[in-house]
Amino acid sequence: MELLLKGVFQALGKSTFAHRMAKKYGLRLGAARFVAGETIRQSIDAVGRLNADGRMATLDHLGEFVTSGEEAERSADMCLQTLDAIAESGVLSNLSLKLSSLGLDIDRELCARNMKRILDRAREHGNFVRIDMEDSAHCQPALDIYRSLRREYDNVGIVLQAYLFRTEEDVKEMHALKANLRLVKGAYKEPPGIAFASKKDVDDNLKRIICLHLLNGNYTAVASHDEAIIDYTKRLVSEEGISREAFEFQMLYGICEDLQKRLVREGYRVRIYVPFGIDWFGYFMRRLAERPANVWFVLRNLLN
Ligand code: FDA
Repeated sequence: MELLLKGVFQALGKSTFAHRMAKKYGLRLGAARFVAGETIRQSIDAVGRLNADGRMATLDHLGEFVTSGEEAERSADMCLQTLDAIAESGVLSNLSLKLSSLGLDIDRELCARNMKRILDRAREHGNFVRIDMEDSAHCQPALDIYRSLRREYDNVGIVLQAYLFRTEEDVKEMHALKANLRLVKGAYKEPPGIAFASKKDVDDNLKRIICLHLLNGNYTAVASHDEAIIDYTKRLVSEEGISREAFEFQMLYGICEDLQKRLVREGYRVRIYVPFGIDWFGYFMRRLAERPANVWFVLRNLLN
């Protein structure tokens, strides 16, 4: 049953019809637990609330289905406005984005140009931008663009996913770039030929790449709500004498709030991924697919 629900949410997340319906019905579907709002103002307010108890943020303007160059440029403009709003409000947040929303599937040059506009603006504000990782079809193109940007910019990082067989090698290669990596388990449905299928294998690989990247002396964002992964990281940094400035824990907005706050109290750097915007449906479906039990929470919201 759980696997079936997972598949349904993953398919819905890719359906344009479902995206259209969701836009029509707004955040009432229960997505408000995971999405900070539809406007920049609402998202900045949400970050302010997180900052108040010591949590930093990374803002993500949601939008994955871009079908024209104009849409990609509009999406890049939203990133610029978000960076400006962060600077004006003084909240502690950087920016996360998806290359497909900047035109990766339309024209790689256009996507790279959009990224440079964003990184230039971030640099003006002394801020940092992280490239989220999408499904495996986008992995190599995203890494290629990241590599070329990294030569010019030191305020850009990327994400690697522990469920892909290739990732351990990618982490090793990223060492040459001194890459700032966010390491995650991976949120997309991938074929068994390229990805670990069992939770244990994914977890073991995540621990392996966290260890590799940290011991190589590179800044590492450990992005997981899994207490076993978090405890592993705490033990590793303590045994190896790694400074608390060399890494951070990251979690998603609305998930495991108590754990987020506990880590702040224990003195760790904690950053919350705060998504906002009208294109929230695909993101919402991925959160439901990760944990189909969330569907009861959504149904309760609809019935109330
Ligand atoms: P796991 O899935 O094993 O969950 C551990 C525990 O966390 C669960 O038992 C539950 O208590 C809680 N939990 C996890 N997910 C939950 C949910 N949706 N609702 C409620 N509770 C939940 N992926 C990707 O492919 N590309 C990316 O760029 C990113 N970026 C990213 C940024 C940040 C800050 C985070 C935290 C995660 C991502 N991810 C991602 C998603 C990631 O790949 C993964 O799908 C989720 O983090 C869930 O995996 P966990 O490591 O939390 O472990």
